[in-house]
Order: sequence, then structure tokens, then C-alpha cells
Amino acid sequence: MPPARGLFISLEGIDGSGKSTQARRLAEALRALGRDTVLTREPGGASGAEEIRRLLVEGDPDRWSPETEILLFTAARRDHLERTIRPALEAGRDVITDRFADSTRVYQGATRGDLRALVDQIHSAAIGMEPDLTLILDMDPETALARGLARDSGEDRFEDFGLPFQQKLRAGFQALAREYADRCHLIDANAGPDQVASNIADIVRRNLP
Ligand code: TYD
Repeated sequence: MPPARGLFISLEGIDGSGKSTQARRLAEALRALGRDTVLTREPGGASGAEEIRRLLVEGDPDRWSPETEILLFTAARRDHLERTIRPALEAGRDVITDRFADSTRVYQGATRGDLRALVDQIHSAAIGMEPDLTLILDMDPETALARGLARDSGEDRFEDFGLPFQQKLRAGFQALAREYADRCHLIDANAGPDQVASNIADIVRRNLP
């Protein structure tokens, strides 16, 4: 008999909201429960997708139109899905991804442009899959932006759109949590990292098969 499919979990939120730390902590928590867990990220998570990532996160904010971004993020996601996510889930492993399609819905679909219909069309043609569970880290954009830029990662193309952009993103993620209320959980990320990690672990534990 093939192994039971693993659980597919995404973490979402504005830039600097602490997703990456929380994704790592959640992976540790699942492994501590004896679950075989893959931690991955977007854009990226497979070698071709990581090459596309560099085109997206470096350079001038106006380097790409929002429409071109949708295509590039989706191309990277398709590669990630084919080579990393699907094989892991089918082998019975859990997958935690730092961002997935909700980022495209909010960044390109609701914030860079009013392009949600185009995002949905391309998603259903090329991806057609949602996480089992999505944790959206909600926090004050001013604090988050200061944190994000302080990292000075050279990957600041989206941070460089500025504070009003991050405020719009936050509202977009809150709306998305209401739209997909079954799958999405909004987490207060202004709390300390230990509290956030423990809230996330509780929600995930309740959703384990
Ligand atoms: P990420 O590596 O998660 O950056 P950070 O750790 O700063 O949150 O993502 C890189 C950037 O790409 C981030 O600013 C969000 C943006 N992005 C989109 O605009 N659309 C997408 O579909 C994805 C996956 C990311």
C-alpha cells in the first residue's frame, strides 16, 4: 500500500513578519512528533525555481510588470511543485512551505495591480492545488518593514515598494483569511516568537490526520 499522503502547510504574511523563523520552528515541532518533514520556500524550493527567484527579488522595483511577475512566480511554483512538493507528499512526508499561491493572490493580484482574475486563471491552469492548512502571520507593517530592511539581504525588491505597499498587503492577507476561512488561520505575529510558535503548533496539531 502507498504511504498516506503527507500534510501540506504554507506560511504567509507581509515582508519581515517572521515567517521564515516560524516555518523552521514548525518543522522542528513536527519532526519532534516523529513526522518526516520537508521545509521549503517560494519563490524557490527547487534548483530551477531558485534561479527564477533571483530574477524576482533582486533589482529595481519596476523591473517587471505585475503581469510578468505572475508568470514568473507561477513558473517557479510549477517547478517547485513538480520536483519538491508533490514527490514529498506522495512519499508520505509533510511539506512546510514559506509562501505559496496566496502570496501571488495578495502581492500581484491585490496589491501590485487589480489582477486577481488573471492570477486565478493562471493558478487553475498551471498549479490547481492548495495547501491543506495556511498560517497567515499578521503584524504591524512598520515593525515588519524595519525588520526586513535591517536584514540587508540584497533581496529587497518588494520591501523597496515602501510602507503603504506593506499596509495594502496586510489588508490583502486579512481579506484572504476571510475568503478561505476553512484553510487559513490568521496568527497575531506581534506577540513574541515563542508565543507565535506555540500558537502555530497548537493549530497544526489539531489538524493532524
Ligand atoms: P520571501 O523570500 O518570502 O521574502 P521575505 O523573507 O522577505 O518575506 O519572498 C520574496 C519576495 O517575493 C517577497 O517580498 C514576497 C514576494 N512574492 C510575491 O510577490 N509573489 C509571490 O507569489 C511570492 C511567492 C513571493
